[in-house]
Amino acid sequence: MSEENKKRDGFGSKLGIIAAAAGSAIGLGNIYRFPCELGDNGGAAFLLMYLVMVVLLGIPVMLSELVIGRRTQSNAVGAFKILAPKSGWPLVGYMGVLCGIIIFAFYTTVAGWTLEYIFKAVTNSFHGKDLATMQQDFADFHNLGWLNVILQAMFIFLTGYVVFRGVQNGIEKFSKILMPLLLGILVILGIRSATLPGAHEGLAFLFKPDFSKITGEVLIDALGQSFFSLSLGMGVLITYGSYVKKTDNLTSTAFSVIFADTLVAVLAGIVIFPAAFSFGIRPTAGMGLVFNTIPMIFNQMTGGYIFCIIFFALLAIAALTSTISLLEVVVAFLSEELHLNRKKATILTCVLTLIIGSFASLSLMENTPFAIGGKTVFDLMDAISSDILLPIGGLLIVIFVGWKFGKQKFFDEVTNEGTLKSSLTKIFFFIIRYLAPLAIAVVFISGLIKS
Ligand code: PFF
Repeated sequence: MSEENKKRDGFGSKLGIIAAAAGSAIGLGNIYRFPCELGDNGGAAFLLMYLVMVVLLGIPVMLSELVIGRRTQSNAVGAFKILAPKSGWPLVGYMGVLCGIIIFAFYTTVAGWTLEYIFKAVTNSFHGKDLATMQQDFADFHNLGWLNVILQAMFIFLTGYVVFRGVQNGIEKFSKILMPLLLGILVILGIRSATLPGAHEGLAFLFKPDFSKITGEVLIDALGQSFFSLSLGMGVLITYGSYVKKTDNLTSTAFSVIFADTLVAVLAGIVIFPAAFSFGIRPTAGMGLVFNTIPMIFNQMTGGYIFCIIFFALLAIAALTSTISLLEVVVAFLSEELHLNRKKATILTCVLTLIIGSFASLSLMENTPFAIGGKTVFDLMDAISSDILLPIGGLLIVIFVGWKFGKQKFFDEVTNEGTLKSSLTKIFFFIIRYLAPLAIAVVFISGLIKS
């Protein structure tokens, strides 16, 4: 182990890793991206397929990443170099780092909006607005391209500041208290939304599946969304796994994170769809779906002013704990493999991300020059990372663990060298070796053919 590896930070407690991994998983992917995908893909059928992907693939892929990380105590690239020296496998890690930069770049466009919406909430600028005005304001805001870029820059450098302060101090402190608070506010919002007039239509859209809507495209979107939401397929959990103590239980960590993440996503659906149907917002409204619906719900609530501020502040923090993990993958790689110091690595990544990310932000303006074949740069970055790179990353990771890393090492790592019970471990390994690669490959190929 190199000198640098010996000095690595680690998570101080069991709750630390769960909080940090859940912090990475829970974010705009749950509250913003999930409803958009669900709305675009026909509602309940998508939810069902999403849940199948999470249950079938979430645990095996997450366990595989954690196992690789903890075993090697190394970053996404270094881990493969240690386990499979002089082979092509480290490319999986490089792909993860690249994917991390792409996601960080477009994710911070939306993360920047949360800052604007905190400001709007504080200045009470949603008060008394009807839907048409709300929608117009949202469109006008996108057209202020440079304001979007400035907000994005603020978010990127805020992330950089936290990551620079180090794993334990930076990440653990933020995640522990605030995510349960977000859950609480979503429950309150969900109750208000589900009791609005006409809410039942939204609930039916969310929970009554129309099986004829399940197409190859729906499947690949559900696969991409499940990996995106659980932060899988690009080495976040390899990197975080490398900070986990040898005595922690990886299986229960994976279960807790997946449970919390899925709960938040489903709750976000219960918040958005009943209200959207009640207000007459189309489920296919895309970006405006969440950013217009939520303030409208608060307008209908006693104490809405203060709840709205708290909600957008928590959303910004949920986004921050996710961007921290994206940046951490890149910084751990640059500092451990290329021997840059953490400060330089952080600044370099943030500047590079801002340059790439500003194209994503500016591509959402009306008549933008930043669109290719009718798709905005934002959408392209989203699709390339979530629907292509993450599934390929996840596929290669399970193949690696199932066929190269091997059963014995997997058992040793998951059972903490035989000290934990291992009844489910056999099943997980079977899924990792056979089922998961097959399922990801079939979904991926069927999606490519049909889209
Ligand atoms: N899982 C995060 C979310 O749902 O908001 C986004 C994300 C973070 C995706 C880290 C991928 C990743 F590696």
